[in-house]
Amino acid sequence: MSEIIKVIVPHTLFDGCKDNYKLFLISMKYKGFVHNTVCKKPVKRLSLNMQKTAVITGGSKGIGLALVKRFLEQGFKVVSVSRSMGELSPLQDQYGSQLVVMFADLSQKQAVLDTAQTILQQIESIDVLINNAGVFLPGAITQESDEDFELQMALNLNASYYLTKRLIPNLAKGGYVFNICSTASEKAYANGSSYCISKHALLGFTKVLRAELMNQGIAVSAVLPGPTLTDSWEGTDLPASRFIQTEAIANTILMAWENRSSMVMEQITLRPMLGDI
Ligand SMILES: NC(=O)c1ccc[n+]([C@@H]2O[C@H](COP(=O)([O-])OP(=O)(O)OC[C@H]3O[C@@H](n4cnc5c(N)ncnc54)[C@H](OP(=O)(O)O)[C@@H]3O)[C@@H](O)[C@H]2O)c1
Repeated sequence: MSEIIKVIVPHTLFDGCKDNYKLFLISMKYKGFVHNTVCKKPVKRLSLNMQKTAVITGGSKGIGLALVKRFLEQGFKVVSVSRSMGELSPLQDQYGSQLVVMFADLSQKQAVLDTAQTILQQIESIDVLINNAGVFLPGAITQESDEDFELQMALNLNASYYLTKRLIPNLAKGGYVFNICSTASEKAYANGSSYCISKHALLGFTKVLRAELMNQGIAVSAVLPGPTLTDSWEGTDLPASRFIQTEAIANTILMAWENRSSMVMEQITLRPMLGDI
């Protein structure tokens, strides 16, 4: 008797099978991987995720917004998490459900945990996680308030730690975590004390994460930008030529993602052409 073979592409056409036939499913998620199975019972849910997914914190403006735009252009489904809509409205109009906007104050631990849970409920597999949300509050150790120290640690370090920890089980093999650190992760300077402390710690977290995830085939990069023209620099009288453009950072991160098959850019330091300010 000849064998009945069904090849189902795309997976959305697959609604279960009642007969005993050989089933081939071609998955885009695992490149070149072909399921070959004898199907006897109806299969309720078989999702083959053909679209890549990126989760980006602080996507409402600045560097995060440039990242959201770039990944949307590349066809990713993007989840952006911030407290406000910021400048995302035109992108939501343009991209519809390809862009998911979530609102949370990531300086609050419970809000980070709730966000992680919501993401996990909506997205089966995450390809790219970019911990970008952060804040810079100037101040010297002896003069700044404890609250400023605690806020910068909570947002710049703890939020990335708690979110990444919860999402790791759903990171795809071949997935990527980018932590947006800063040149202040390496170079300490006066009057930016808690920011420098939090960004040094974020770099430490990133290095540990890289060591712990490399055997799972998940890449981790620390991105250390120097001065970048965003709202963080509101009121500056320096010319734009003294700053990195946000799009250049987004392009660099995409380049690291695209070249991940044989190497990981573990630390990416970026400075304006004219050097530090
Ligand atoms: N600009 C620079 O010169 C520079 C240099 C080195 C590193 N960095 C780092 O790059 C990252 C982005 O900086 P940026 O200059 O693009 O800053 P930005 O323009 O001020 O944007 C910060 C983003 O983080 C979000 N955010 C702030 N507080 C948040 C909170 N409590 N909960 C959730 N989201 C919050 C903001 O959205 P909402 O306000 O809507 O919440 C916004 O989307 C930061 O980690 C920063 O330290 C920046």
